[in-house]
Amino acid sequence: MAARLSCSPSTAIGASLIPSSSKRAAVSRSISAQPLGLRRSFSSISFNPLRRFERLEVRGRSSSSLNGAMYATCAASDVSQLKSAREDIKELLKEKFCHPIMIRLGWHDAGTYDKNIEEWPKRGGANGSLRFEVELKHAANAGLVNALKLIQPIKDKYSGVTYADLFQLASATAVEEAGGPKIPMKYGRVDVTGPEQCPEEGKLPGVMLNLIKCFVHLEIVALSGAHTLGRSRPERSGWGKPETKYTKDGPGAPGGQSWTAQWLKFDNSYFKDIKERKDEDLLVLPTDAALFDDPSFKVYAEKYAQDQDAFFKDYAEAHAKLSNLGAKFDPPEGISIDEAAPEKFVAAKYSSGKRELSAAMKQKIRAEYEALGGGPDKPLQSNYFLNIIIFVAVLALLSSLVVN
Ligand code: HEM
Repeated sequence: MAARLSCSPSTAIGASLIPSSSKRAAVSRSISAQPLGLRRSFSSISFNPLRRFERLEVRGRSSSSLNGAMYATCAASDVSQLKSAREDIKELLKEKFCHPIMIRLGWHDAGTYDKNIEEWPKRGGANGSLRFEVELKHAANAGLVNALKLIQPIKDKYSGVTYADLFQLASATAVEEAGGPKIPMKYGRVDVTGPEQCPEEGKLPGVMLNLIKCFVHLEIVALSGAHTLGRSRPERSGWGKPETKYTKDGPGAPGGQSWTAQWLKFDNSYFKDIKERKDEDLLVLPTDAALFDDPSFKVYAEKYAQDQDAFFKDYAEAHAKLSNLGAKFDPPEGISIDEAAPEKFVAAKYSSGKRELSAAMKQKIRAEYEALGGGPDKPLQSNYFLNIIIFVAVLALLSSLVVN
């Protein structure tokens, strides 16, 4: 089944790059040499229709018993549980090197959003529907069952976190832990409750036209930069080589073809590499190539290739926007789990005397104390303070005389 990814009427890309099965393996090699179709389009990518859906088993459970757990969900998430879940995700990432697939999980849950439908959850988007087998079986979601298998134990541990939030939390945490920017996320996404609420097959790629209407060119280019991480596997999407010098030894499950040499490090090398197209072992999908072929994308792609800070800034904003697509939040404004806002001053708390001074502050006080002639073994002479009190009192007296 072909996943047609169109940009906008002005950049409609008819370049039909749907590879036949025999062509697929050679695609990554030939793409750099092949000129893209000149009709300006954002290309079409097909996903392997013959791929067998992997039987959904999580921790030894069959799909049917897992589905029981999948139905059990909550309306919205709990802040302290979200924070703990984030720590568990960090551990999982360290152990399994699964950053890329977690980002893809979040993107594919949110990416079904249809801008033309107002009603939730019909409009699709970040609503946790990707946990259901019926949606995991969609061609575009090949391999994402593995991400669900990894994340399910964390879901089981935190009943107060929705799937919709967990998928987006895992994705944002993966970007950050791989060295990427801090994503300004909010939480509180409500889950769909049953598989009948899943989008129909073909919605994710089919709706790209709508999705792309939600993003300006800059955001599309920035989001594409997520391919700085991860690999494509021919047995899943039909794209990429079975293995390369960069992937044959893992980390994680070996194989696939990456877009960058250091495919677990979030940086701007994706833009540099797809611009140069020098290394046969690095992947360039048609949609990646379009970023430098289409002038309306190229201006940003060039900028990000030169300026990592600009890429990080734009990526963080675009990622957060993507993670909110179609989501219903409870409370409607969402909840933050980051201590960005400064703590409010509460007099009673600070006057209790229990608050420990920071090491830096202690050091500063010690330095000032020593500068005045004091020290750990040499207390300041008591008349030093007496002198200060007399000085302040005289000053107060003089000023009151002047005022009167
Ligand atoms: C322009 C539209 C896009 C297309 C056509 C596309 C296509 C693909 C394909 C074919 C794969 C390989 C999947 C596999 O074989 O396992 C892939 C992987 C990936 N995609 Fe995209 N993608 C797009 C947009 C995005 C966006 C918006 C993000 C995130 C913000 C993203 C993040 C990823 C990541 C991290 C991987 C690596 C997954 C892994 O290593 O398991 N992609 N993408």
